[in-house]
Amino acid sequence: MKRCILFTLLLLALSSSVGAAELTIESGAQKKIFTTAQLLKMPGVKKIKVEKDPAYPDKAYTYTAVPAASLFEGVKLDPKGTLQFHCTDGFAAPISIPRLLNQDPRASVAYLAIEGKEKWPKLRGGKKTAGPFYLIWEKPELSNVGTEEWPFQLDGFKWQLSVAELYPHTAPDAKLLGNSPEQKGYLVFQKNCFVCHRVNGEGASEMGPDLNIPFNPTEYFQAGYLLKLVRNPQNLRKWPQSKMTSFNEAALSEADFKDLEAYLRHMAGRKVKGN
Ligand code: HEC
Repeated sequence: MKRCILFTLLLLALSSSVGAAELTIESGAQKKIFTTAQLLKMPGVKKIKVEKDPAYPDKAYTYTAVPAASLFEGVKLDPKGTLQFHCTDGFAAPISIPRLLNQDPRASVAYLAIEGKEKWPKLRGGKKTAGPFYLIWEKPELSNVGTEEWPFQLDGFKWQLSVAELYPHTAPDAKLLGNSPEQKGYLVFQKNCFVCHRVNGEGASEMGPDLNIPFNPTEYFQAGYLLKLVRNPQNLRKWPQSKMTSFNEAALSEADFKDLEAYLRHMAGRKVKGN
């Protein structure tokens, strides 16, 4: 009996996932949602034959697709920000706005391939297809389109300003790699401290002191004292109306703290002029 219920539930789950695909496009307060059926009815939908693509490298495939540019009609995409594509498994990565929106046939043109009722083949070694949506390119050789520019299992695009774009003077040297302690520490800072502290005068908080100007705590705190403060501000100086939160090991690990300290120390060498 139990088994039977489980099986019915499974069937229900399966049937609701079929045909219920949606593509979401977000930019600030703007949000557009397209269902598969709506996309298939859009002007400009056409068949595109791709000789070889990263999802199905073994043979040519003909997709039903709509020009990527038409999905973004009326959507504001400030070039200062970053457009990210988003996939059904949660993967997200940036994609170039001018390349995606290009409609000049002298360069590669991007299309959104739509998996309709007729299912695409399963991906090699996987149980799923490249659907519900797949970004493909017409004449990919014209603009040297790279493999990473063909995201499959797409479910949306989102434009946003990153903290570094919004507040450039809070960012570490762009030459530092993403896995450097300073860059990792910048993310720790954004997650835990930026709601209350500015850096170089930038940020939205009016609560705690600026952590870089005129002086950065790594310049005037003796070794070990910043960690004491972060674990519990009352460890360092005691008064009833302190507003800073405590961060225990679960909230901020020792490793994250080391990165955070590396970020702050690095920023002491990047003060805005005039301070
Ligand atoms: C809820 C807001 C809040 C958060 C979150 C917060 N702080 Fe604070 N912080 C304050 C306030 C307010 C002060 C001023 C003293 C007080 O009220 O405790 C302060 C003081 C400080 C000071 C002492 C500056 C000085 O010289 O007196 C340092 C350093 C500091 N914070 C670092 C951090 C770091 C690093 C983080 C992130 C791990 C952080 N703070 C998170 C609100 C916050």
